[in-house]
Amino acid sequence: MNVLLVAGARPNFMKIAPIYRASLLYGSVRCSIVHTGQHYDREMSGTFFEELEIPEPAYSLNAGSGSHAVQTAAVMVAFEQVCLQEKPDLVMVVGDVNSTLACSIVAKKCGITVAHVEAGLRSFDLAMPEEINRMVTDAISDLFFVTEESGADNLLREGKAPGAIHAVGHVMVDNLLRQVERLSLQDVGNFQGYSLKQRGKPYLFLTLHRPSNVDRREVFQGIAAAINTLAADRSVVFPVHPRTRSMMEAHGISLSQRVVLLPPLGYREALYLWKDAECVLTDSGGLQEETTALGVPCVTIRENTERPVTVEMGTNVLAGVTADRIVAGYRESLEKRSSATVPPLWDGKASERIWQVLAGQPAGIETP
Ligand code: UD1
Repeated sequence: MNVLLVAGARPNFMKIAPIYRASLLYGSVRCSIVHTGQHYDREMSGTFFEELEIPEPAYSLNAGSGSHAVQTAAVMVAFEQVCLQEKPDLVMVVGDVNSTLACSIVAKKCGITVAHVEAGLRSFDLAMPEEINRMVTDAISDLFFVTEESGADNLLREGKAPGAIHAVGHVMVDNLLRQVERLSLQDVGNFQGYSLKQRGKPYLFLTLHRPSNVDRREVFQGIAAAINTLAADRSVVFPVHPRTRSMMEAHGISLSQRVVLLPPLGYREALYLWKDAECVLTDSGGLQEETTALGVPCVTIRENTERPVTVEMGTNVLAGVTADRIVAGYRESLEKRSSATVPPLWDGKASERIWQVLAGQPAGIETP
C-alpha cells in the first residue's frame, strides 16, 4: 500500500509523527510524508521534524503564506503533481488546517481514497476557517478516524456509513506520551523556561493565535486585561505566534511585566513549560486535548469548542473571550482538576489502531 501522509502547519506535525512511525511496522506499507509548506519558519516547522523524530519529507511543496484562497490554491496545484506522479493508494490527512482541505480535495478528484484523522469534530461555528476545512474534508473523505465520541456522532448525523467510522483514540496523545518520556531523559538546562521553573513558583502558560481573538483590537484588549489581572501575583509564560506578535504591535497591546514573552517554542520546550503550569490558557485546539491527557488545568479562550470531551470529562473550562469570564474560568479550572479523567482510548496506541484498520484487522471501538 502506497500512502501519502500530509502535514502543513504546526499542529499537524505532532499528529503525523506517530502515524509515520507505526507505518514502519508494516512491511507492505510505503508511507511518504508530504510537507505542504503552509508553515515554513524554523520555529513553526523545522524544529518539529527533528524533535518528533520524523524523517525529512519525501515532498516539500513550499506553498507558504497568503490569503486562504491563495494558500489553499498553492497547495492544491503542487499536491496534484505529487498525486499524478506517485499514484498513491491512499492519501491520509490530519486535523483541520488549509493543507488538510486542499490535499483532500485534490486526492479525491484524482480518484484516490482519502482517510481523515481527527474526523468529525464540529464547533458549529462557520466563522472559523477550521470548521469549514473540517466539514469539507469530511464531506469527501472515505475513511474517518475519530478521537472522541462526538466525532462519530457528528459523522453519523451527517449520513456517513457506520463502517467507515473508526474510534481509534488520539494520535496526538500517542506523540505526547512519547515526548513526555523523551523529555524526562533530556538535559533541559538550556531551555528558555528553565530558570523560571527553577524558582518553583506557580506560573501560567498562555497561547493565543486565533484570528477571532487577535485580529480585533477590542477582543484582544479584553483578553490582555484578563492576563494582566492574573499576572498580578504570578508569572505568565507566553510564546507568541507570528500573527499575534504583529497584531500586538498593530493594536498597541500592553502586557504586564510579569508576562514573559517568548518566540514560538519547539514541541518539547513548550511541553516542558505547560505540563507543570498551574493552568494553561489557550485558544488552540490541540492544547485543550493535551492538557486533558496530562490532567493539567486548562482555560479555553473561545466561545465554543469542537472538542467537547475535554470539557465533559477532562480539565478544560470553556471561558469565552471577555476579561471577567477568563479570570473566573481560571478559578474554575483549578477546582475541576480533581474530578477530571482521560477520555477512552487516549492511551498512546491510536496510530497502531489506524494501521490495523487499514490492514483489515479489528481495532478501536465499532460505531453503532
Ligand atoms: C494555521 C491554521 C490554524 C492552526 C495554526 C497553528 C488554517 C486555516 N489555520 O493558522 O488552524 O491552529 O496554523 O499555528 O490553516 N507565519 C509565519 N511563519 C510561518 C507561518 C506563518 O510568519 O512559518 C505568519 C505569516 O504572516 C502568515 C500568518 O503567520 O500569514 C498566518 O499563517 P497561516 O498558516 O496562514 O495561519 P495560522 O494563523 O498559522
